[in-house]
Amino acid sequence: MASSHLYDVTIIGGFGHVGLPLGIVFADCGLKVALYDLDTSKRAGIEAGVMPFIEYGADPILRKVIGKNLTVADSLEVCRQSKIVLVTIGTPVDEYLSPKTSPLFKLAESIFPFLTADQCLVLRSTVFPGTSQALVDFFRDHGCPVELAFCPERIVQGYAIQELRTLPQIISGSSPKAVAIAQELFGRLKVETIETTMEEAEFTKLFLNSWRYIQFAVGNQFYMMARDHGLDYQRIHHAMTHHYKRGDIPGPGFAAGPCLLKDTMQLSAAFRNQFFIGHAAMMINEGLPAFVIDHLLRETGGSIHGKTVAILGMAFKGNIDDVRDSLSFKVAKFLRFHGATVLTSDEFAKRPELIPAADAVNKAEIIIIGVPHSAYKSLVIPKEKKVVDLWNVLPPHAA
Ligand SMILES: NC(=O)c1ccc[n+]([C@@H]2O[C@H](COP(=O)([O-])OP(=O)(O)OC[C@H]3O[C@@H](n4cnc5c(N)ncnc54)[C@H](O)[C@@H]3O)[C@@H](O)[C@H]2O)c1
Repeated sequence: MASSHLYDVTIIGGFGHVGLPLGIVFADCGLKVALYDLDTSKRAGIEAGVMPFIEYGADPILRKVIGKNLTVADSLEVCRQSKIVLVTIGTPVDEYLSPKTSPLFKLAESIFPFLTADQCLVLRSTVFPGTSQALVDFFRDHGCPVELAFCPERIVQGYAIQELRTLPQIISGSSPKAVAIAQELFGRLKVETIETTMEEAEFTKLFLNSWRYIQFAVGNQFYMMARDHGLDYQRIHHAMTHHYKRGDIPGPGFAAGPCLLKDTMQLSAAFRNQFFIGHAAMMINEGLPAFVIDHLLRETGGSIHGKTVAILGMAFKGNIDDVRDSLSFKVAKFLRFHGATVLTSDEFAKRPELIPAADAVNKAEIIIIGVPHSAYKSLVIPKEKKVVDLWNVLPPHAA
């Protein structure tokens, strides 16, 4: 990108699950990228070319670009030297499930002294509807009328490197100039772009995540109904989905992680908290751990007091190492409440309490699959052990 600035893009939140893969891919496309992040614990690893979390295919590209097109910045002053400032910080909900907009506005307060009207701020985080326009108003009111684009991220965590080069990008902006800058930026990915208004883009992202959350809830509620009727849901699921294109129903499983629930609640907050189907999805998905424990209790004579239970898979989904908002922790909490000793294991996550799957299986009388890591497909569990595998990932029960 021709510009008098030292960097084409500075990414704020650049060490995060969205910011880092995006920075790596932009750098690999020839852009000069700076990463800035408050979490300095990840810096040394990134500078040494090591990803701080699993993103398939990212490590070799990081090693190729770091210190060349990709650098790490020490302070927000880097914004002065950058044509585009792209924001990927977290946008959580609070303890009442209301959108927490303060981190974005605090960031806006911190960066406006470094911005000038010839720069463009690109918002990539998922936001509560109206946030993009509120930021435009904020910068205008502070005498800093930057261009602002909102271009939501739609990758699925773990597969960003591949998806950033294939998914159409949604582009919206506060002015034709902002849209043109964002078009040029995402045009480097050589993918389709879809132009919308900023508010349309905000709803597009929230609708998509809510839709996914609701789809998982449908699968989970069907599973619960079948189990309550004493039926084998896997057989029903197979009958519904096998070579039948209108039976596209997700299998059961803990639907968790840092995005789906909070984005469904952000959407609800934008609709007077009356997103009934979204709240129903939350009740179903968040209720699944209690349902699983309830059935376990019924099948083990009403008590698991004093028993040792292993949970295999503490990440929030299969084949990644991210435990944020994983429902496996909720399962563990219920088990402990019922007096069980809980052992936890994961193939990828690194936490001091986690033990190898084989040890957990050896020591436990009951084994619960938390997430379907592929390694569990070949895990042999002795027949005498009780197994709860709602994902159907384990091989047939074999000693
Ligand atoms: N994780 C996903 O798969 C995914 C997919 C699409 C969209 N999103 C959205 O992207 C956004 C980021 O999600 P994430 O999963 O990357 O979160 P994350 O926590 O992995 O990354 C956010 C990063 O921002 C940094 N940060 C926070 N405040 C900062 C500040 N003021 N200045 C500098 N750095 C700051 C944090 O230290 C962290 O490294 C959220 O809005 C999320 O909803 C996430």
